[in-house]
Amino acid sequence: MGRYWLHVTDSEGFDPEAENLSFKDRWRDTLAKVKVDDEIITYVKGKGEFAGHGRVCAVSGLEGESFSSPLALAVQPVKVEAVKARLLAPDLSFITNKDRWYVHFNKSIYEIPKEDFETIKEGFATGKPVTAACVSSKADSRVERLKAEIASRTATGIKGLDSIIEGGFPVNSTILVTGGPGAGKTILAIQFLLHGVKNGEHGVFISMDERPDDLRKEALKFGWDLTKYEDSGELVIVDVSYPRSGLPSKEKYQINMPFTLDNIVRTVYEIISQIDGKRVVIDSLPAFGIHFDDEAEVRIAIHRLNNLLLSSGCTSIITSEIIPGHEGISRFGVEEFIARGIILAEVYREGKEYKRALTILKMRETNYDLKRYAFIIGKEGLEVLPHKVVFFDEAARII
Ligand SMILES: Nc1ncnc2c1ncn2[C@@H]1O[C@H](COP(=O)(O)OP(=O)(O)OP(=O)(O)O)[C@@H](O)[C@H]1O
Ligand SMILES: [Mg+2]
Repeated sequence: MGRYWLHVTDSEGFDPEAENLSFKDRWRDTLAKVKVDDEIITYVKGKGEFAGHGRVCAVSGLEGESFSSPLALAVQPVKVEAVKARLLAPDLSFITNKDRWYVHFNKSIYEIPKEDFETIKEGFATGKPVTAACVSSKADSRVERLKAEIASRTATGIKGLDSIIEGGFPVNSTILVTGGPGAGKTILAIQFLLHGVKNGEHGVFISMDERPDDLRKEALKFGWDLTKYEDSGELVIVDVSYPRSGLPSKEKYQINMPFTLDNIVRTVYEIISQIDGKRVVIDSLPAFGIHFDDEAEVRIAIHRLNNLLLSSGCTSIITSEIIPGHEGISRFGVEEFIARGIILAEVYREGKEYKRALTILKMRETNYDLKRYAFIIGKEGLEVLPHKVVFFDEAARII
């Protein structure tokens, strides 16, 4: 298969009908890779244009030829109309710095991906420089794609919750669910996973806190049979609780020892890939943190895990805890920064009764309010009451 090359020259040295492109000796190694029938496009510095296109007929000046033969490519030129590189830069993958796109034209010749080559050729193929209208329609399609991404949400399936966050979590984001012990974090996370599984989005539950059987039992109390989905390969529970207990795990999915960040990241990645996971829960980060020597290491670990989740295209919940008497809403102080959404679950006292409240503290790309909504944990799990806003003093907060 032919390769695709970009040749960079300045205005003086450019002739669109040139049949000979000469190069300085230091490009010898690159030219040695160019073969007959490869295609080449010329970018003209100063003009900032892709302005030439040709097919390679011969490479001359390489070793074995006479010393006097200069390094050059013989090309069969194709007539094109120049196109401004600035206009195509947003669509060219080899231009990674989109703001300073011109810094990429700093070598005389280099290989570019076929797709990029085709994009530039399409720019030529209009017979004239890409017009502003054409560019704006491309820009429009990007905006449309982003709009579609904003519009498509990952529904949690939790009654009353989706309606206060525009239908669900932003797709491909990490949401922090935080609160004190017994606040309902794990139940919320299970519901989120199950809703996905029932709708074709496979789920991975990384259990750092609870043994998988405890989790299965807790779920079964609500009538949710996790084993059914585990058996069908739509749900995986990874046992990360056993290193804490010191007892061996009988679970199919666990993190191999030693319990290092690399091992964790590799295992999680493999499982997500294996089952094509779209929803992930990490429950909980404080339990995860005890495996590291200091908090700086934990923060690095959290960042790496989060990058992995995002790059795998997953929408994820991580749970953390509020430390009573401490400022802040997370254990390590980084969770709130990596998370695109934060849900706080609290328990407070009203008269002689204990009640639950849920607040959306942050949800990117979402119109939400900072009200405390009542929620209950009933027979069908967690249910938010979107019409019941509650107020209480800090003194009334139990957890
Ligand atoms: N079957 C059930 N029916 C009603 N309420 C339940 C049921 N099972 C658990 N709960 C309630 O849910 C709470 C525990 O919820 P969950 O395990 O999600 O909390 P958590 O925030 O994850 O706690 P922790 O920080 O200890 O892990 C319990 O305090 C209990 O009151
Ligand atoms: Mg829990």
